[in-house]
Amino acid sequence: MTRRALLVGVGAAGGAGAMFAAMGALGLAPDSQPKEFVPPRPGDFSLTGRGAAKVVVLGAGVAGLTCAYELGKAGYDCTVLEAADRVGGRVLTLRGGDRLTELGGETQTAAFGQGVYFNAGAGRIAPWMVTMDYCRELGVPVEIFVNGNASAYVYTRGMTAPVRARTARADMYGYVAELLAKAAGAGALDRRLTEDDRERLTEFLRRFGDLGPDLSYRDSPRRGFATYPGVGDGVPYGAPSSLGDVLAAGTGRAITMDFGYDQAMPMFQPVGGMDAIVTALARAVGRDRIRTGTRVTGLTDLPDGVEVAYEGGVFRADYCVAALPPHLLARLRHNLGARVTAALRTPVPVAAGKIGLEYGRRWWEIDDRIYGGITETDLDITHIWYPSHDYHSAAGLVVGYYNTEENAELYGRLSHRDRRARALTQGKKIHGEKYRAELRSSLSIAWQRQPHLEGGWVRWPSYDGGFALLGRPAGRVYFAGDWLTHLVAWQAGAMESARKAVTEIHRRVVKTPS
Ligand code: PHE
Repeated sequence: MTRRALLVGVGAAGGAGAMFAAMGALGLAPDSQPKEFVPPRPGDFSLTGRGAAKVVVLGAGVAGLTCAYELGKAGYDCTVLEAADRVGGRVLTLRGGDRLTELGGETQTAAFGQGVYFNAGAGRIAPWMVTMDYCRELGVPVEIFVNGNASAYVYTRGMTAPVRARTARADMYGYVAELLAKAAGAGALDRRLTEDDRERLTEFLRRFGDLGPDLSYRDSPRRGFATYPGVGDGVPYGAPSSLGDVLAAGTGRAITMDFGYDQAMPMFQPVGGMDAIVTALARAVGRDRIRTGTRVTGLTDLPDGVEVAYEGGVFRADYCVAALPPHLLARLRHNLGARVTAALRTPVPVAAGKIGLEYGRRWWEIDDRIYGGITETDLDITHIWYPSHDYHSAAGLVVGYYNTEENAELYGRLSHRDRRARALTQGKKIHGEKYRAELRSSLSIAWQRQPHLEGGWVRWPSYDGGFALLGRPAGRVYFAGDWLTHLVAWQAGAMESARKAVTEIHRRVVKTPS
């Protein structure tokens, strides 16, 4: 039997862990993490004579829940300790009656009507993300999240009135195409372009900018209509503003924000609220294995296990996965060393905030013909999100701001009343008086003021050093979280990091001589 045939047989019979154990014995174990994730299976232990270990997971956010879920599949004895009285971390869907308390004291109670919800944290999923695989596996139904909508508005302080995204895009593309086509035609690009290149480029630019026969951008139905065509031929918006005015409006960020690989349509959301994913994970883990209201205060790595101190007791296990935000882990009493503490202090917490504005009439659909999507602004509210679900129902919730960094810090320092007043003043510039007059209820969140989280996400000043150190275990303590990936601020980051920790723990457990 060749070594390869042996490994294939072992892998098929015993799963990835057994295969790694056998490979290790043959001196073949790869140093790098395999791309394909194979969850640990009970059968992996049969070859090694080992039993599944006892693992304590700190934090019931997406990373912690995914760890417990995947380890649980193989029969690991997992316990999740969670400081808050709920699971989910920065996945938070608020419905009527839910309460939200911020550090500094204020408690809000959601007054939303039946069927109205507010995804106060995670809000969208790209189709390539592993989050979608968990939705499939856990039976969480998903629907389209409208991330880009040509009918939503763009509003910048360089404008007298908001314009539709399609209009802003038509104008920038039109003028850019005109300039480039004319520059090429005048020979300005001859050092870069052959004659064939120039013809092909010009042909593309005609389409890209909807240019006229003389390669000018003057007007285009792409700009949209005050009255759309029907029996009549419609009333177009008409000619664009001058090139200078279009450039001065500064729509660049607004019209390119869905160009990114993480923001391109289609995007997705679970039906009924983002928390469907963490709810399904928690159910699969087993509610009895998740201890909410249990705040961890200390962590000790021992030669033969780990000891976790929490308010009211001590918990012993063979291994620990620390899936809390790094800035909170840094404050724990621990014996993992000064380098670990320094590494945990390297990522900088980023403030992020949202406000949910509930209306009793879906005026954005009825009056503005906006079905989902996002209005982009350069105001301190940054974005306005329209709901991508329950179209045409009676009520609905608009996200009146979703901002980060300084803007989020500014709103975070205000009381809820003042946040709401400020958000309404800004939003009125786009939607007019109804934005204030028709408001039914509201609720705001400043993630940097959320207990046990203290941030929207983190920013690594550099991925050198600390990132790699925390990607490895400190003794029997493994770290997990979106902050340990290049997918910061995505559930997919938390899930991928969890899979890495699970794979490494499992490899270690099946390889350890009994
Ligand atoms: N995932 C968050 C969002 O979609 C935060 C984020 C934004 C992360 C943009 C990366 C890029 O809003």
